[in-house]
Amino acid sequence: MADPRVVRHPLVDVRMSTLRDVGTDRPSFRAAVRELTAMVVYEAMREAETAPLEIRTPVATTTGAVLANPPVLVPVLRAGLGMAEAAHAQVPGAIMGFVGVARDEETLQPTPYMESLPGSLAGIPVFVLDPMLATGGSMAYTIDLLKARGADDVAAVCLLAAPEGVDHLAATHPDVPVYTAALDERLNEHGYIVPGLGDAGDRQFGAM
Ligand code: URA
Repeated sequence: MADPRVVRHPLVDVRMSTLRDVGTDRPSFRAAVRELTAMVVYEAMREAETAPLEIRTPVATTTGAVLANPPVLVPVLRAGLGMAEAAHAQVPGAIMGFVGVARDEETLQPTPYMESLPGSLAGIPVFVLDPMLATGGSMAYTIDLLKARGADDVAAVCLLAAPEGVDHLAATHPDVPVYTAALDERLNEHGYIVPGLGDAGDRQFGAM
């Protein structure tokens, strides 16, 4: 299997347990999504370049930092919407685009229904936000859209990944790193991650 970047931290494990627990209510589930997103984005930004900035403290003048090239954030609707606010809080200056991709529950193929993205993404880091990297179909499809707009620096930011999704992404977009809070065992015959957490969209927003 390709090598996802799994964020290792006790607080990640605790929040992930909240997500997995079938008894977690919707508000608590959404809160854990936000908290985990902040942690994974924090890791995904580790190598981000900064530019020096002269600032005055109450005591002296010193050199601070600004992000040299903030990422564009692209939540994949519906489940990625719950990650958007927390990712934006980490990078308040970021532009946000949106992609809507539903999964056909029979074929498991991605079915696009909306796209709202900046015209050109060349030279700009892009973070695709989707809590579940299951088959990898929606993520690969979204990255196709981004690359068609010139994106050349894309990262997949997830909360839970399956080996099948990681491998699919490595095969289709080997240049795209995967950041995730956990890596599970496998997919089941319905395309759900095992042990997983169920349907991340339904658990955040209710079953449609
Ligand atoms: N999407 C989800 O929400 N859950 C899974 O387990 C797989 C895909």
